[in-house]
Amino acid sequence: MTGAVVRNRWWYFGSFMTSPRTILITGASSGIGASLATAYAREQVTLVLMGRNEERLSRVSSVCRDKGACVVKSVHDIADTDGFLDALSELDRHWCFDLVIFNAGVGDTRAPLQQTETPQQIVRLLDINLRGPAAGASLIAERMIVRGEGGAIAMISSVAAFVPLPMAAGYAASKAGLNAFALSLNAALRGHGIAVSVICPGYVDTPMSARLNTFKPFQMKPDAAAKAIMACIARKRALAIIPFQYAAACFILKFVPAGFAVWLSSKFGLDASPYRAAGQPERVTAGTADSSSAQLDIR
Ligand SMILES: NC(=O)c1ccc[n+]([C@@H]2O[C@H](COP(=O)([O-])OP(=O)(O)OC[C@H]3O[C@@H](n4cnc5c(N)ncnc54)[C@H](OP(=O)(O)O)[C@@H]3O)[C@@H](O)[C@H]2O)c1
Repeated sequence: MTGAVVRNRWWYFGSFMTSPRTILITGASSGIGASLATAYAREQVTLVLMGRNEERLSRVSSVCRDKGACVVKSVHDIADTDGFLDALSELDRHWCFDLVIFNAGVGDTRAPLQQTETPQQIVRLLDINLRGPAAGASLIAERMIVRGEGGAIAMISSVAAFVPLPMAAGYAASKAGLNAFALSLNAALRGHGIAVSVICPGYVDTPMSARLNTFKPFQMKPDAAAKAIMACIARKRALAIIPFQYAAACFILKFVPAGFAVWLSSKFGLDASPYRAAGQPERVTAGTADSSSAQLDIR
């Protein structure tokens, strides 16, 4: 166990963490976040579930309550960084979280007829996928340090952090930034008994990936992804890539010259244009100056 300042007795066991009791999950209204919420739900666990869509959040909440958890819903838009941070601070003041999972994210890609994402898309992606979670993790880390009871912070990144993605440069950048941030935060918090894990899934069968019409090798079900993520958090893994096939691929990519990786991704399928799922209305990103170039929000 690292850190002499850790007073909390029950939730570290060797290098493993026993079950956390108060957990905040962002993006709990859908996909991986919803699966994480239901997997952690049980008696004597308090779950604070964050999302934007109250109806979806309520559905997940009632499943978790049926499993015996105490559930608090929190509706916030992470793009409103100040509002998000205020909410986090207030919630943590009340619940003193053992574990905070920054899972919410968007997976915007360039529109089918464009070569790149728009500047507005890039800003929005970085706000939701990187700025909000990184600032939020700092806030939670500060509060955990002051409490002196240890804790855990998990950030859901993506294998996109390791691969050049011609159709989603902003997404790839947001996840690569998240990895760099989480590893640095991990190093900073070592002496305080606070575990920081960044977990990078490959394709997971959620509404986000459902809207990408591309080959999705080794796609996981959200419940399987949630179980794997929970195992990584319990083992206090600094960085984990799931499933193992992607871990092997990312390991090999480390030794490939960058130019070759770029050439490879531009040649083989990674440049597949995104398509809307059948019947899905095209959605124009709020604040986009040029509304004629409709943006595809794959969430
Ligand atoms: N699916 C994959 O293949 C895959 C692969 C690698 C990594 N990931 C990562 O896994 C995480 C979860 O993705 P998912 O596949 O579960 O996607 P999802 O089903 O689309 O769920 C995304 C969640 O993020 C929330 N969210 C999005 N924008 C938000 C905002 N501005 N403010 C607050 N909450 C917001 C959504 O809330 P509302 O529903 O309320 O809008 C939803 O709960 C993301 O970080 C994603 O990048 C996914």
